[in-house]
Amino acid sequence: MANANMKIFAGSSNRALAERIAEHLNVRVGDAQVAKFADGEVRVRIKEDVRGADIFLVQSTCPPVNDNLMELVIMMDAFKRASAERITAVIPYFGYARQDRKDEGRVPISAKLVANMVTNAGADRVLALDLHAAQLQGFFDIPVDHLYASPVLTRYFRRMNISDLTVVAPDVGSSKLARGYAKRLQADLAIVDKRRVSDQDTKVMSVIGDVKSKNVLIIDDMISTAGSITEAAKTVHDLGAKNIYLAATHAILCGPAMERLDKAPVEQVIVTDTIPVAKENRRDYLKVLSVARLLGEVILRIHHAESVSRLFDMDLED
Ligand code: R5P
Repeated sequence: MANANMKIFAGSSNRALAERIAEHLNVRVGDAQVAKFADGEVRVRIKEDVRGADIFLVQSTCPPVNDNLMELVIMMDAFKRASAERITAVIPYFGYARQDRKDEGRVPISAKLVANMVTNAGADRVLALDLHAAQLQGFFDIPVDHLYASPVLTRYFRRMNISDLTVVAPDVGSSKLARGYAKRLQADLAIVDKRRVSDQDTKVMSVIGDVKSKNVLIIDDMISTAGSITEAAKTVHDLGAKNIYLAATHAILCGPAMERLDKAPVEQVIVTDTIPVAKENRRDYLKVLSVARLLGEVILRIHHAESVSRLFDMDLED
């Protein structure tokens, strides 16, 4: 079990997940005050001794993204100045990841800037789940353990035992992810050719593959405004798909997302708890699976300097 000097702390973005992780590890979440000054600045005070400790700070940089990011870096600064031995930034959802290249003139590479901020604030290593692009690991010059929620999601779908299943990628960028699910679920694969019209709207041009009379699982790394995934759902529905399921690791659910999901022709939407689902966004059709055990096991292995990759053969849903 956990060594005495391993400590789990939480920012305010996803305290519930940190508590689930701590429960798996049979430890408690460390005592820290995370609040705001009257002017909105983040105010942090670590309320227990962390000298020489192996710190795992759980903080998703989900909306409000900037507040959560500042909390993450300011908390790490506090740990560093309190003489923690090692700090692992556990970032179940890593925001700003989609701004990972200069795709037009005079735009920043915000993902790289954020990676620098995390490193400069004192992170010795990063633990992240389903980064928008695996190459983001290279934006850090410290070790990154990049995990996938696929063992948790795959297990759920295996149990559902859906016949005549086709896994659908809602855009070309998600086709590798979808191919992995198709392989593990022994299903066919189809790919939607999506064009982005604006940051909130997309247009489907065509579908590569057969979805007629098939049960369909549309899989993506995140549901943000839900434009991509619901446009894909409407398209496969119009092409004669039977039952349609949507799944994604990160449920950002911002802007028109819930309105779009409420209207979508789908049986179920399956996400994980990398980002907490707000009360007003909870629905009967929305199933949230926990990645707490997965993260807990990995944290334990990092702490004991054991192999992380061997975990992927294990049964890791809550
Ligand atoms: C795109 O590259 C991503 O994988 C997602 O498909 C996209 O970011 C989801 O955004 P939205 O839900 O706003 O369409």
